[in-house]
Amino acid sequence: MQTTSFSQFNIPSIVRASPPPTTTMLRRKTTSSRRLSPLYAVASSTSRRQVTHSMPPEKLEIFKSLESWVSKNVLPLRMPVEKCWQPIEFLPDPSQGPEQFEEEVRALRQRVLGLSNEYFVMLVGNMLTEDALPTYQTAINTFDGVRDETGSNPCPWAIWTRAWSAEENRHGDLLRTYLYLSGRVDMLMVEKTLQYSIGAGIVSVALNIFIKLFI
Ligand SMILES: [Fe+2]
Repeated sequence: MQTTSFSQFNIPSIVRASPPPTTTMLRRKTTSSRRLSPLYAVASSTSRRQVTHSMPPEKLEIFKSLESWVSKNVLPLRMPVEKCWQPIEFLPDPSQGPEQFEEEVRALRQRVLGLSNEYFVMLVGNMLTEDALPTYQTAINTFDGVRDETGSNPCPWAIWTRAWSAEENRHGDLLRTYLYLSGRVDMLMVEKTLQYSIGAGIVSVALNIFIKLFI
């Protein structure tokens, strides 16, 4: 089975770095020959400018005044959970019994044999973007006037943000499980990269994009 290593590709947002001490200690004894070299993919840790993004009072007032409009016109646009697709609907389902599950996994792995490495690099990039969802929710909750101050705030803006996060979460779940079952990518490297990425937070450029969505 061909395995794609992240280290083979030049991905702008991923840089190689010396492993941090804790990671070095945790290297698995089971490292096999398929791991080409002890490279570590991490989110860029370039220095960051402190971002201040509080709204001026007049804009804050606008967001507050829109709350009842959001309740009446935006919140109803949410699709009920029962009508949403779920990742398992597109994946081998273990609840169907071991034989059916194994057959579906084998079929999936057979199907992906013909796909190029570049395709999987694209999927991994997409998965990392989707799975960094905690960063996006955190970013939104830094915005004055719309933030979820308690984690379960009844403010309509906060309700919308939580619902959006819950819907988005399915995308990463689907991609991650698909890639895992495919056997075509180095999941250990992918998972480390994701942990670095979420731990690093969001850069000011991306945060500004989020801000513009609201202003
Ligand atoms: Fe998404």
